[in-house]
Amino acid sequence: MSLMKAAARRIPGLRRLDARGRLLGLTPSNAVCAEIGVWKGAFTERVLRQRKPASYHLIDPWAFQGDMPDRWYGGAIADGQGYMDAIHDDIQQRFGTLPNVTIHRSPSVEAAAEFDDDYFDWVYIDGDHSYEAVLADLECYAPKVKSGGWLLGDDFLWGGDSLPVKRAVEEFVASGRAEFAQRFDQQFALRRL
Ligand SMILES: C[S@@+](CC[C@H](N)C(=O)[O-])C[C@H]1O[C@@H](n2cnc3c(N)ncnc32)[C@H](O)[C@@H]1O
Repeated sequence: MSLMKAAARRIPGLRRLDARGRLLGLTPSNAVCAEIGVWKGAFTERVLRQRKPASYHLIDPWAFQGDMPDRWYGGAIADGQGYMDAIHDDIQQRFGTLPNVTIHRSPSVEAAAEFDDDYFDWVYIDGDHSYEAVLADLECYAPKVKSGGWLLGDDFLWGGDSLPVKRAVEEFVASGRAEFAQRFDQQFALRRL
């Protein structure tokens, strides 16, 4: 077993990093891609370093949602809209001037209308983890991903017994528009049919 794998077994944070690395290993470099739910840009940084995308769209409203107190952006970490504005400003400063990055400050379903069909090589879904929102992201972005491209996402087993992400993903796969390709810990990969 590699040193990284042995360490990842013992340390949950490392296990997540390793799973994300393996997930990104499925994707081509120099791709046209998007991240839905960007937060403070930890995954963004990794994608830029590891995959060197040709065009990377960052989609997040950076809106405080006090009616969702269990979410980072609803009170679990953020304490109000000022906190979210500060995150957005930091993202804008770090990534906004890069020639291959476009920032879309809006909810994912609204932003979807800005993209042509068959535009993306891959999309990573990590925004609102409710069943309805994950299903809506899959429904809206599947046509925007090329056939053979990837619908990727995080937190497959999030949400306690109700497993909203898993239920939405499995329901979408059952519709026949994508096949379940891989899972690495909480990371999932669907291949667009
Ligand atoms: C779990 S964090 C994303 C973490 C990030 N992908 C990373 O790995 O570093 C969830 C993010 O989703 C965003 N979000 C919530 N609702 C959204 C929506 N409807 N569309 C897009 N992003 C949304 C939140 O503002 C928050 O920044």
